[in-house]
Amino acid sequence: MESVSKSIILSNGVEMPLVGLGTWDLRGQECTDTVCTAIGLGYRLIDTAQMYDNEREVGEGIRKSGIARDKVFLTTKIYRISSSYEKAKEAIDTSLQRLQTGYADLLLLHEPYPEGPEMYRALVEALAQGKARAIGISNYDERWYRGFLEHCGTAPAVNQLETHVFFQKWDFQRELAEHGTAMQAWAPLAQGIGNVAGNEVLREIGERYGKTAAQTALRFLVQRGISVIPKSSHTERLRENIDIFDFELTEEEMRMIRALDRNRTLFPWTEEF
Ligand SMILES: NC(=O)c1ccc[n+]([C@@H]2O[C@H](COP(=O)([O-])OP(=O)(O)OC[C@H]3O[C@@H](n4cnc5c(N)ncnc54)[C@H](OP(=O)(O)O)[C@@H]3O)[C@@H](O)[C@H]2O)c1
Repeated sequence: MESVSKSIILSNGVEMPLVGLGTWDLRGQECTDTVCTAIGLGYRLIDTAQMYDNEREVGEGIRKSGIARDKVFLTTKIYRISSSYEKAKEAIDTSLQRLQTGYADLLLLHEPYPEGPEMYRALVEALAQGKARAIGISNYDERWYRGFLEHCGTAPAVNQLETHVFFQKWDFQRELAEHGTAMQAWAPLAQGIGNVAGNEVLREIGERYGKTAAQTALRFLVQRGISVIPKSSHTERLRENIDIFDFELTEEEMRMIRALDRNRTLFPWTEEF
């Protein structure tokens, strides 16, 4: 059966898995164990951030899994406390130390800040020095993104954004792609808001393939070429969330899910930048 590949190629040629593990509210031993379990289940992308205060545990989970470092795609993000070129440079080294690694596969600016272009210079430098394999941004909406492109020099390879069945961002995905920026979805299950897992349309479509509503929601995104990073601390759900590559939604089913789009954020803080 024709299906989407399990990875995409970023604008600089680096391969990024389409499904990864989000770690936003995982802490301590639970974080280490979840990362380790996820890798055992086949996850090859782990998403963390300085803001999550769990980089050490994520690094430990990768180490504990026994997998070779170069087989895991590791993302971290630098945020507002490092709001200058110098501070961002230091923050990158701090992240790498905490993660127990010499490089991140993807380094992101966590949010749009006025100092973003200056901070991004440190990311560009990290890319040149081999401390990052790819660099990008997160939470840059259309307005911020267009402004950023004028100053950044190296176009971001990724923009990680709130994206799920209730906020689908088709036009922005197209615009990003025109500039070589891949869209990655945070909260691909809407963080549980709006009950994606119990949604009737998703459930009914999923049943046709022996899949859950959550799997259908994730499949909808990866079938659009959007990388997703669902978070779960439950082994069964971890297994479920990555098991989305053996079925394909029809055009009609894609249209039915498209009709769920409310075209607005579920997270008002994203509008406060
Ligand atoms: N760049 C940014 O600003 C930003 C912002 C937010 C998030 N993120 C990243 O994106 C990742 C994912 O987003 P998120 O964690 O906010 O939300 P999410 O992945 O959309 O949803 C996570 C929630 O869904 C539940 N869940 C997971 N799999 C499920 C399934 N198969 N069926 C039913 N419920 C399921 C989880 O509960 P259990 O854990 O109990 O299973 C958890 O409560 C984060 O962890 C973080 O890495 C980035």
